[in-house]
Amino acid sequence: MLTFPPAFLVGHLPARPHDPARPHVTVTWAQSLDAKIAGPGGARVILSGPESMEMTHWLRTMHDAILVGINTIIMDDPRLKIQLVPQDDPSLLPPQPLILDPQLRFPLSARILSEWNKYRGSRELRDDRILRDSRDVPDARGPAVVRQPWIVCGDTVPPERREEVERAGARVVPTQLDGSGRISPNALPAILSSLGLGSVMIEGGSRILSSFLHAPSRADGSPLVDSVIVTVAPMFIGEGVGVVPEGEDRGLPPLRTIHTETMGKDAVMLCALR
Ligand SMILES: NC(=O)c1ccc[n+]([C@@H]2O[C@H](COP(=O)([O-])OP(=O)(O)OC[C@H]3O[C@@H](n4cnc5c(N)ncnc54)[C@H](OP(=O)(O)O)[C@@H]3O)[C@@H](O)[C@H]2O)c1
Repeated sequence: MLTFPPAFLVGHLPARPHDPARPHVTVTWAQSLDAKIAGPGGARVILSGPESMEMTHWLRTMHDAILVGINTIIMDDPRLKIQLVPQDDPSLLPPQPLILDPQLRFPLSARILSEWNKYRGSRELRDDRILRDSRDVPDARGPAVVRQPWIVCGDTVPPERREEVERAGARVVPTQLDGSGRISPNALPAILSSLGLGSVMIEGGSRILSSFLHAPSRADGSPLVDSVIVTVAPMFIGEGVGVVPEGEDRGLPPLRTIHTETMGKDAVMLCALR
């Protein structure tokens, strides 16, 4: 086990606290040598070895939020936790889970929600206060904290559906959709700022990676994506889900390699957009 966050990350990612006025956007994924992130039909494949998986958990602690698309929730049912970092360090906190889900298809059986409800139920509720978020609990510190899932959906989702999801324990954040019915990547920094989040680690899946990698620059001319961190596992998947969906591999931005680290069997590349 690494006892400190990998030095190459500490040196190249901004130190916390991040500035919610200009949230830092990291895009990260694990891929095979043939540029696949999942198997046939989206089946989950364990790509990262123990060392690079632990690095990913450190990386999660270095961001205020972690973001995935709704299909990843439906297909992988991830918990987005940080159980591989030292569990006795109260300064390490899991990032706030954010799910981009325009139609609010979020399954109420998702593990990320049941874990939050279990955690919420296990804590004392004082003054009949409704515990909305782990940040409301003054003594909630350390990797064992579980955060409420926050779901960013379209403002066109019927109020009854939003209420149903909120009653089940998640927080729903309605927002305006773009012309394709998606949450525009360029709208994300303002959404993060409005939620008090100064950085985000975007973990996939394929459609989300594509849309953020293709996104235009920010209003100030700087790239929307500040850091790209890719774990390359020495294996072939063959038929499966690509890093970006078929036909979306044109027009991807040029990358500048900052550092490549060997972690166990894997190579981890830290890049920036040129
Ligand atoms: N290896 C890895 O690192 C890794 C990590 C995560 C996931 N994965 C894999 O990725 C696969 C899922 O990828 P996916 O492409 O099917 O789904 P996804 O990227 O997880 O989710 C895509 C959905 O997100 C919604 N969305 C909201 N805003 C969007 C935007 N700006 N751009 C694109 N989508 C937006 C859309 O929902 P609506 O259709 O409802 O509009 C879209 O269909 C799974 O097989 C999973 O195993 C791999």
